[in-house]
Amino acid sequence: MEQRREIGRHAVGERVLLFGPPGVGKGTQAIRLAATLRVPHVATGDILRTALQSHTPLGRQARAFVERGELVPDDTMVELVRVRLAERDAASGFILDGFPRTVSQAAALGDLLAVAGVALDAVIVLDAPTEALVRRLSGRRICEHCQDSYHIVSRIPRTQGICDRCGGKLIQRADDAEATVRFRHLEYAAKTQPVIDFFNRSGWPVRVVDAIGDIDQIFGRIYAAMFWRD
Ligand code: AP5
Repeated sequence: MEQRREIGRHAVGERVLLFGPPGVGKGTQAIRLAATLRVPHVATGDILRTALQSHTPLGRQARAFVERGELVPDDTMVELVRVRLAERDAASGFILDGFPRTVSQAAALGDLLAVAGVALDAVIVLDAPTEALVRRLSGRRICEHCQDSYHIVSRIPRTQGICDRCGGKLIQRADDAEATVRFRHLEYAAKTQPVIDFFNRSGWPVRVVDAIGDIDQIFGRIYAAMFWRD
């Protein structure tokens, strides 16, 4: 692979998909990437958790699936993403995190992009061993307001229990209990990992990035990978 030369000129836009198993750092890296590229961070897990907290019809429909660590049905997720990507702020780009998670969702995303006449600039597949991720998730705390993600060892907030970004309270996610995390990894292996074959078969620009290391280091790898050209 050859690296693109225009890193200095590249600043705004891009349609990027961040993909990988639970706890690999999609949310952590997506927030930074979205700020750098000045595009919205579209995270299906965050949208669902906000709906759960607000007791909307979507929240009531999704609650049992999310709390058990199961996937929410494809029809619901495809419609949610279709509506979100049609919003004005996503017109020039987005960081998509948590979708697609099944081959059927991936095919639906392909259709949505084709109808809009756009393509993904990069599909970043973050890769790390399961046991490291189970450890990461047991130490995760999230902001109940803005959903920013912290860790009791690797990303400590300035004030204990309080979000640096918005001052919200930090809590542990219901689906971060170890047994549920292990179940989410089984779901990932059975239903989500096969999506990578779909990406490759469809000729989408897949870049596999090692997600072990510190957060800044991994961000550097992702940013560099965005400029690879086959
Ligand atoms: P979702 O919220 O998308 O969960 P997930 O994919 O399981 O991913 P996580 O949020 O657990 O992890 P992450 O990769 O974002 O890692 P993070 O950056 O937080 O989905 C939740 C649920 O919603 C699903 O189970 C399902 O029910 C439903 N759902 C969502 N989308 C769906 C869809 N498309 N179809 C059907 N159902 C859907 O990092 C993890 C921790 O590690 C943090 O504490 C972080 O601070 C720390 N950390 C990050 N990077 C590092 C590092 N390099 N070193 C050390 N620690 C690190």
